[in-house]
Order: sequence, then structure tokens, then C-alpha cells
Amino acid sequence: MPVRRLPAGLGGPPALASALRDAQYIASDDLATATFLALSLQKPLLLEGAPGVGKTEGAKALASIMGRELVRLQCYEGIDASAAMYEWNFPRQMLAIRQAGDDYVNLYSDEFLIARPILQALEQPSDRVLLIDEIDRADHEFEAFLLEFLSDFTLSIPERGTMRAVEPPIVVLTSNRTRELHEALRRRCVYHWIDYPDPALEASIVMMRASTVAHDTAHKVVAAVGQLREQPLAKPPGVAETVEWAEAATLLHQQGATWPRAFARAIGVVLKDQDDLEFIAPQVDALLERVAS
Ligand SMILES: Nc1ncnc2c1ncn2[C@@H]1O[C@H](COP(=O)(O)OP(=O)(O)O)[C@@H](O)[C@H]1O
Ligand SMILES: [Mg+2]
Repeated sequence: MPVRRLPAGLGGPPALASALRDAQYIASDDLATATFLALSLQKPLLLEGAPGVGKTEGAKALASIMGRELVRLQCYEGIDASAAMYEWNFPRQMLAIRQAGDDYVNLYSDEFLIARPILQALEQPSDRVLLIDEIDRADHEFEAFLLEFLSDFTLSIPERGTMRAVEPPIVVLTSNRTRELHEALRRRCVYHWIDYPDPALEASIVMMRASTVAHDTAHKVVAAVGQLREQPLAKPPGVAETVEWAEAATLLHQQGATWPRAFARAIGVVLKDQDDLEFIAPQVDALLERVAS
């Protein structure tokens, strides 16, 4: 099995975790290990987890520490291969034909080729990280197409022939698990489930991302968010919401609001769904008292 040599200073899970932290991303040991293995074994890394647990941010931080450009393919319902691979610039082709008159024009030269993320990654695999974000939003057909690409990193352009990456690109896939991904796709990847961070880790994230927030406040917010995540909410808060809640409450506290009023009043940054707000409203004071004690 061919093994990728990682840049100096990234040669193991602890070194990777430390570099990621310098890039403002705190990875658990398990995530650092999965990332290390995916990079070394030259396999795509598949990150699955609830919205807001740090999947996209993890891919960005990885690109940053590898000194590479992140090429992001955001998936959506109905996404097709041309949005992912390449398109021919039809208006420019038409213009070229008109301008050429009787002369010959090669309509399939680079000039007319618009590279989308997959082709971009394939053309310069050593300079880029390909992020295929929220693959669960795409349909099964698109997933099958991706599987083909991820099997041999080739792309067939009928007018040009088959293009092959000179080395396997670094690929990160994410899924919010709104549906099961195909078994074959998962088998192709190194898989890691990102859970909500444990309280200590989430408090570190809050303090790293929101420098104005006091240590004690960070821990209280993390505990309160932990309680919210145990409720049957439509949109449980992600890590970004924890950070924002801590910041917002700190701001209100500076304006004179007392704990836990500051947190209760800032609830709109953590719950953004009307039904969730209505459900939580009657118990918010009790919940906050609980974590304060
Ligand atoms: N491990 C982490 N380290 C640092 N920041 C994090 C971490 N996890 C989440 N965040 C913060 O939470 C935000 C949301 O994360 P994001 O990657 O967008 O979630 P996802 O893609 O899983 O929905 C990020 O912008 C970042 O500020
Ligand atoms: Mg995301």
C-alpha cells in the first residue's frame, strides 16, 4: 500500500493535533488519528456528525496546516456532475465561432473549459485539498458518480479523453447524516464520527474562539448547552452557537445583566427555531440555575 509522506512537523496524530490547534481548531485524539491515517494511506476522510460539530471547519484547518488551497464542493439536492467536474463555456465557444469566420476553432481547448472543484483538485493534487461538503444532500446517483472518481481519481471528458491525477488528492467528505451513505462509499474512506465535543474540549474551543469570555462563563455555557442538547429539539445547538452564546451573554453582563438573566436574554443566539424556543422558554430559568449551582 503506497504511503504518503507528510510534511515535517505533521508526522503523527499528536503533531497533527498540535498544528491544527495553532490553526484555531481543536481536534480530539480520535479525529487526529483518523486524519493522520487518511492522509498517510492516501484515502478520503469521511467526517460524519450533527450540524455544527466542526466538520467543515476541520477540513479548512487541515488545508491550512498542509499549506494548501481548499477547494470546496458544496452539495445540494439535484447537484449534477457538471457542477462538480467541469463545464464547457458555451457563450465563449459561440463567440469564438463567430469571430473565427471560416477559420477552424478548437472548441474543446483549455480556453473554453471551466474547471469545477473535482477537476481543480485533479489538475493540481499536491496544492489542494478537496472538500466535498454535505454529501448527504446530494442524491444517490451523484454519490455513485463520486464513488467512481474516488476509486481511481480519474475523470473522463469525452472531448478530451481521460484525465488522471498524478497523485491521489487529499479529499475530505462530510455528511450531516440526514440519510445513510452508500456502503461502498464508506468503505472507500477512513471514517470518523464527530460527536459533540466533551465539556472540557468545548470550553477550550469557546475560550480560544471568544477571547473576551471568562473561564467560569465558558464552563457554564458549555454545561447549559449540554443540557439543551439533551432536549428533543428540532435544531440542537452546535459549537458555533455555544461560542456565540458565551459572547452574547458576556456582552449583556457587561451592560449590567446578572447571571443567569444575561444567558436567558441571549437565548436567541443559541436556539434559532421558534418551536424550540417555545419549548425551552418555560424551563430556561430552571435549566440555567441547575448549571450555575
Ligand atoms: N473542534 C473545533 N475547534 C475549533 N472550533 C470549532 C470546532 N468545532 C466547531 N468549531 C466552531 O464551530 C463552528 C461550526 O463548525 P462547522 O465546521 O461549520 O460545523 P459543521 O460543518 O460540522 O456543521 C466553526 O465555525 C467553529 O467556529
Ligand atoms: Mg459544515
